[in-house]
Amino acid sequence: MKIVEVKNLVKNYNSVRAVDDVSFYVEKGECFGLLGPNGAGKSTIIKVIYGFSPATSGSVRIFGMDIRSQATKIKRKIGVMPQEENLDIELSVMENLIVYARFFDIPTKKAKILAEQLLSFMGLEEKKDANVRSLSGGMKKSLLLVRALINDPDLIILDEPTVGLDPHLRQNVWERLSDLKKMGKTLILTTHYMEEAERLCDRVAIMDEGKIVIIDETKALLQKYGGNLEDVYLKVTGKRLKI
Ligand SMILES: Nc1ncnc2c1ncn2[C@@H]1O[C@H](COP(=O)(O)OP(=O)(O)OP(=O)(O)O)[C@@H](O)[C@H]1O
Ligand SMILES: [Mg+2]
Repeated sequence: MKIVEVKNLVKNYNSVRAVDDVSFYVEKGECFGLLGPNGAGKSTIIKVIYGFSPATSGSVRIFGMDIRSQATKIKRKIGVMPQEENLDIELSVMENLIVYARFFDIPTKKAKILAEQLLSFMGLEEKKDANVRSLSGGMKKSLLLVRALINDPDLIILDEPTVGLDPHLRQNVWERLSDLKKMGKTLILTTHYMEEAERLCDRVAIMDEGKIVIIDETKALLQKYGGNLEDVYLKVTGKRLKI
């Protein structure tokens, strides 16, 4: 079953064509990765998929529903970890989660229980009463992932989930994402870390200048081109992936 189907997606920001005729799908239970250098169009695709930004043309279907006509229904079943951290720094960790849960009509009592479970899943339980302002960058990133899971989403969309994390926390996030996959969740992530993609993604699309230059199973790409995904990128585009 296809959870996400993107067909001929184009997104212009005034004269800039950020996404140029992109098509791909994501199957249920799969982890799909969007890779590519800064400005390739990864976040723009992600933002169209989660209904933050309208497409210029093309179609996006999620759970078989069109994002233009059924956005509200779709949003209830997706979890989003944005690239830019947008937590409420005036509130505590728990308050952030309770407020967010209200968007999904989750009552406060239930939200608290869910939040506690998810905070311990991410190793953040001791911070539940801390003010978000006092968290480290890595803890904020972990909290963004907790928040994305509060509505028990079937599709989890992660834009650069481990940027700025130390190796220990990155490892923790990788393990939690693997757990989510084992639970049958479908994941889409963007990343600059080829190791992250190789470890987590069943299939990847490598993007450059708004286009997908290659899309395939991670294993197949590594077998066909040898080495790692950085070598694949170099062989396919003739350019070194600058990060
Ligand atoms: N709100 C916006 N208004 C105008 N141009 C934008 C906007 N958002 C993105 N762009 C442009 O669209 C292109 C793609 O940007 P996008 O953020 O999708 O790239 P990305 O692949 O996510 O890059 P990064 O790896 O740096 O996060 C870039 O040229 C960027 O400058
Ligand atoms: Mg981005």
